[in-house]
Amino acid sequence: MQQNHRWQSLETPDQVALAAYQHILRAAEHAIAQHGSFKLVLAGGSTPEKVYRLLAETATDWSNWFIYYGDERCLPVEHEDRNSLMAASVFLDKVAIPKAQIFTIPAELGPELAAKQYQAVVAKALPFDMVLLGMGEDGHTASLFPGHQHNEDELAHAVYNSPKPPPERVSISAKALSNTRELIFLITGANKQEAVNNWRAGQNLPVATISPEHPVDIYIDNAAYNP
Ligand code: 6PG
Repeated sequence: MQQNHRWQSLETPDQVALAAYQHILRAAEHAIAQHGSFKLVLAGGSTPEKVYRLLAETATDWSNWFIYYGDERCLPVEHEDRNSLMAASVFLDKVAIPKAQIFTIPAELGPELAAKQYQAVVAKALPFDMVLLGMGEDGHTASLFPGHQHNEDELAHAVYNSPKPPPERVSISAKALSNTRELIFLITGANKQEAVNNWRAGQNLPVATISPEHPVDIYIDNAAYNP
């Protein structure tokens, strides 16, 4: 199991969200003080929603925040299953981050064109200051799924035949997701327990391919964490 992983288990999903939220604010303060901006990659799925709602209630200077997405589903922009729609509705539409500093993946263009366009966005952004990631029941993260092959030199991948609907997606690559000063996994729910145990046992799951030089913080609730 990777040595630089800090497992932080908490009682409930609300406590996981609060701890991760506080960590994000500390990271933002540090990054802005250090180099004048905070480049944050948002996680998709449902787990991060509680964190985004806490961020939306925060009184802070948003002018130096830059937002990216770890992955996106190839659906119309307004589709309810878009990761960007959830993040916008509970967080980004409620805070004063300049719209020009929010880099949505144009996944409605289809996997190939969207990945090509987002590759350029990621290349300009790296290194990130903080990456947020979830984990699926099969150990996937972002839209990096078990058994899928990608060109590891890419910064963004076109994804087909995703086992988690929809089948077509775009994902920032493991290489690019790992190019970050800080990285947080948010994992809650008993349905994640098996994948967590397989990860900790050393299985080469997609979550295990995320390997920043810096420590990784895994905020996990007791339902998902049963060492
Ligand atoms: C997606 C996500 C995906 C998600 C995990 C966990 O687009 O589906 O990026 O990687 O983070 O599947 O999803 P939940 O948080 O909903 O369990």
